[in-house]
Amino acid sequence: MIPKGVVIVLVIFGNFQWPYTEASCYFPQEFQGEFLMQSPTPMGIGIQYSPLNITENSIPIWGNCHRRIGNNFILMFNYSETLCIRCLHLNLRSSNVLQIFVANEDTISKCFTNEEAAEANCPSEQSLVTREATEILLFKTKDTFGSYTTRHYCPIDGNYHLSYRGTAKKHSNQCKGFDSMANSCPSGSTLNFMLRNCTFEGYDMKFECLAHWRGLDDETYVVFTDSRHLTNLRPKYRCAMYKQDPKTGKIEMALSRDSTCTNGLHNITSAFETMILKPKIERPWPAEVSFEMCSFPQWMSGDWEHVRVKSDTMIYKDHNSFKTHTIRCVAVLEDSDKYLVFSRTQCDEESYNCLRLANRGNNILEFQLGTNSSINKDDVFTICSDENFQSDQWITQGRLEIPPGLSTGMCPITGEYTGRIPDATDLCAKLWSDCRAPELMYYQVSHCESEEIFEEREYQCLGHWRERNLLYTYTERKDVSAGTYECFVGSIITEGEIYIKEAGEHCQRNVDPLRYGMKLIKKQPLYSCIDRSTTPKHIPRMTTRRSTTKRPSETFVPKRTTPIPDFESNDIPDLPREKTKVGSSGISIYLNKYLYIVLYLLFKYF
Ligand SMILES: *[C@@H]1O[C@H](CO)[C@@H](O)[C@H](O)[C@H]1NC(C)=O
Ligand SMILES: *[C@@H]1O[C@H](CO)[C@@H](O)[C@H](O)[C@H]1NC(C)=O
Ligand SMILES: *[C@@H]1O[C@H](CO)[C@@H](O)[C@H](O)[C@H]1NC(C)=O
Ligand SMILES: *[C@@H]1O[C@H](CO)[C@@H](O)[C@H](O)[C@H]1NC(C)=O
Ligand SMILES: *[C@@H]1O[C@H](CO)[C@@H](O)[C@H](O)[C@H]1NC(C)=O
Repeated sequence: MIPKGVVIVLVIFGNFQWPYTEASCYFPQEFQGEFLMQSPTPMGIGIQYSPLNITENSIPIWGNCHRRIGNNFILMFNYSETLCIRCLHLNLRSSNVLQIFVANEDTISKCFTNEEAAEANCPSEQSLVTREATEILLFKTKDTFGSYTTRHYCPIDGNYHLSYRGTAKKHSNQCKGFDSMANSCPSGSTLNFMLRNCTFEGYDMKFECLAHWRGLDDETYVVFTDSRHLTNLRPKYRCAMYKQDPKTGKIEMALSRDSTCTNGLHNITSAFETMILKPKIERPWPAEVSFEMCSFPQWMSGDWEHVRVKSDTMIYKDHNSFKTHTIRCVAVLEDSDKYLVFSRTQCDEESYNCLRLANRGNNILEFQLGTNSSINKDDVFTICSDENFQSDQWITQGRLEIPPGLSTGMCPITGEYTGRIPDATDLCAKLWSDCRAPELMYYQVSHCESEEIFEEREYQCLGHWRERNLLYTYTERKDVSAGTYECFVGSIITEGEIYIKEAGEHCQRNVDPLRYGMKLIKKQPLYSCIDRSTTPKHIPRMTTRRSTTKRPSETFVPKRTTPIPDFESNDIPDLPREKTKVGSSGISIYLNKYLYIVLYLLFKYF
């Protein structure tokens, strides 16, 4: 709600005088990049996307980063005579998708002239839970390094029979029974659908997953690109809600009508398109793996980042090959950390291989799969030989739900350490622990003289272990999207002097902290009891310091971001009636674009 009496300034305001505000907060590097956002079309037909950039300290169409309060960002333009301030709640869902919440649509098209009013208008926790806050999805097209979006593992994978029901303007589309099929072969990042026995001709489509997350109200969401946008003027990005029955594995999925998670998506059974996926009955397992003669160690059972273990079965989603391996224990090799296993992928590729396990504490698992596998289990001595393993290359996994009581003492440092960034010595780093939450540590980079803060991170330590005189600490980043893990390697010279270096996601063993790491000196021997409420949870980018005064390149703001009153979305494009439509909608697209440009110019030179 916008309180009465507060002057609201339209952003499309005056002949712009470029704001020359200094930004006083930074966006985490993971938030930065070039994005697309669904934008309204003047005639309300079809879907369009407008580009949007997020730089290290500004979202040029909405303001410069002024202050951060948790995940709420106060953005501000300082036009010489007046201020334009708004509050956005940013939630990074994956490297590809950034979800933004605002109190209501007015927050986007308008802004406040005083900071208190803008802050009071941040979306409330309650409005996020009840889904009353206005939601905008941003789809990353390029990150800060100019790379294109990365593949993302779909939360749904395997082989399914499915039924489909879609909404169209004057008729309904459906595929009855369970004659249609879905699978995630060859890549776990893509769901392939083969719709058969439908009210339209058989049709194949693909969803490429971009992000998935658990909502505040315990719903699960997935965002993907829909291959149907290639043949029709359809939304390229779609959002779906899904639910899996833990017993039967049956999945219900409901899709919104456009690139939001709200339009036409009421609940799991009532949506623009709905599907029910039933797992295909899997082929029988070979006799030697179907009797539970061997099982994985008890400490391993549970859910890890990319692994799920239950007695004799380990499901491993390989984020390099995008293959999901269902691994069954065949035999334990005596007096060793090796297991002979049988593995089957989602593409039904089968082989025997050897698995090495290492327990690095209650919450850290490391494993290796043999380089060569075999179709024959009699090759056990070849595949389980040390030569079949690269001794130093482990896959490190953190436990997803850490039982209470197992979280203390997981960070190896206590107190406060400071140092200088090795390749940018005018930057100072600080690493410190928190007395009230010993499983957390904080990291900050600032300019040594001006003390301007460029980067702040919050880590939860999962544990640490020693290996060849080095200390490995495995952490989960708490200030970016869930599931971001980082490993540090450290060398402790004395109680007061340590060297540390990042060692990637999988605790690379070939990193020498003494040579390439950062030297940190203990400044405060005791836990620094910082006020948690003011602990900034954020991080602009490391070793990047450009001028903090930036001019927005553009201040055109689309008036609405959740449009589409009348839009016949994902018709299956095979029906004859579709052909006639393509032509006419082609013309209207052209008109739309044209109008859009005209409107844009009007706003720009108004
Ligand atoms: C975003 O940044 C890129 C690279 O700096 C630039 O080419 C592009 O025009 C920008 N887009 C917008 C909408 O500002
Ligand atoms: C806005 O800019 C003006 C002119 O530079 C400056 O005097 C004023 O302090 C700025 N206001 C804020 C809130 O930064
Ligand atoms: C199509 O579905 C109907 C209803 O479930 C079923 O009776 C029919 O046999 C199916 N046809 C084919 C070709 O599978
Ligand atoms: C889903 O939404 C529809 C329409 O809003 C409603 O009629 C139905 O009862 C809802 N179903 C559930 C399970 O909430
Ligand atoms: C793995 O297979 C390759 C190609 O077949 C072979 O050259 C190599 O020696 C094998 N490695 C081991 C350790 O068996």
